[in-house]
Amino acid sequence: MNTNIIAHRGASKYAPENTLPAFELAYQMKANGIETDVQLTKDNIPILIHDEKVNRTTNGTGYVKDLTYREIKVLDAGSWFSSDFTGTTILSLEEFLEWIRFKPLYLNIELKNNKIDYKHLESIVYENLMKYQLLDRTTLSTFNPSSVERLKPMNQSIGVAFLTSKKKSNLVSHAKKLGANALHIKYKLLNKALVEKCQQQKMPVRVYTINKEPSMKKCFSLNCDAIFTDVPDIALNYRNNF
Ligand code: G3P
Ligand code: CA
Repeated sequence: MNTNIIAHRGASKYAPENTLPAFELAYQMKANGIETDVQLTKDNIPILIHDEKVNRTTNGTGYVKDLTYREIKVLDAGSWFSSDFTGTTILSLEEFLEWIRFKPLYLNIELKNNKIDYKHLESIVYENLMKYQLLDRTTLSTFNPSSVERLKPMNQSIGVAFLTSKKKSNLVSHAKKLGANALHIKYKLLNKALVEKCQQQKMPVRVYTINKEPSMKKCFSLNCDAIFTDVPDIALNYRNNF
């Protein structure tokens, strides 16, 4: 069993999601990798944030797409979580890549373009990964099938995952046809037949969001390639004793 433990938005149970403290913590806990979400500001700067609006995770309001990078950078992205994190800011993708560059961590960058289909998000992210020489340990994932198709020309040099929470009988071949070389699924879709099909097709299968031991047990037993978890410390400890 060699299921990797990927910190979902960093160690997001213990620190504000998608921020440096959450990533640092995941690194200190010795997670195998980090998952994060990327969107574009009004002036086309890729930044790390899950929701389309800044409302839930900062002291600001409005859509990411309507705010400039300067406007976003002054927001407090920590105090909603706890006063211990007051002053934490949203990271640009470049700041994140600069941080992760020399650390032995796998990256999964989720393109958050299923609700707002940001123009050129795929190529902007890809160019940044090239600049930081991180292509060989990154998977780009998205729920947006058209975006997976747009990523197809890049899938020789990078992992491209189709992300889904929807049941579909021919899911593996559907993902392959789109141009994905990996499948990221919600836990409720996980079953032995699906994992075996992925393994036959040499398609890594990674599962989200796994925070409890019974679901960790199922993923580890089926030999899934990775789990996304908010609690990498618990998952690593459970895996060590599995
Ligand atoms: O990439 C797996 C998972 O992060 C997808 O769902 O909503 O947490 O971005 P969400
Ligand atoms: Ca995500």
